[in-house]
Amino acid sequence: MRIVCERGDITEARVDAVVNAANSGLRGGGGVDGAIHRRGGPAILAECERLRAVDLPDGLPTGHAVATTAGDLPARWVIHTVGPVYAKREDRSALLASAYRESLRVADSLGARTVAFPAVSAGVYGWPVADAARIAVATVREVAEAGTAVTEVRFVLFSDDVLAAFETALG
Ligand code: APR
Repeated sequence: MRIVCERGDITEARVDAVVNAANSGLRGGGGVDGAIHRRGGPAILAECERLRAVDLPDGLPTGHAVATTAGDLPARWVIHTVGPVYAKREDRSALLASAYRESLRVADSLGARTVAFPAVSAGVYGWPVADAARIAVATVREVAEAGTAVTEVRFVLFSDDVLAAFETALG
């Protein structure tokens, strides 16, 4: 698997699947979630509403992932995942790793070969970016070693400091 990082807007990523840093409600929000729903159009929210009504009455749990159409985005699917809110007094890194692992599992099951990730939990959810980047890269590498049909993971980062953190984590 090729693992790369770049600065950019994930809504423009030309990949099979774009991962959204969503919340359990799956009804949109700010940050990358807001951008994906804005640029992707109403079809994404409509499918999220259907998922909520049928399969996820209590919402998408933290660390899980689910796919919808990508609407008007260049990608084919949006994979919504919920990262953990950062907590100083509790180690929630297993949940952040799970968000990446589950997103890649869903991507694999869809037949997606190229997947773009934002820095899950590193915005509104307050995760220190160097640590978030380290967990992201380590988890994607673990999935690659365990075996997946995904051939490329692209971290698409919105600012220079987040890009620098991912570059360091990639080594
Ligand atoms: N492309 C790529 N990255 C982006 C974009 C974009 N268009 N917009 C924002 N980002 C970056 C942020 O700068 C941050 O580095 O995505 C990273 C994740 O930040 P958030 O979007 O705030 O995600 P998160 O910390 O996981 O918080 C999730 O925020 O908007 C709500 O509904 C969302 O409640 C959920 C929470």
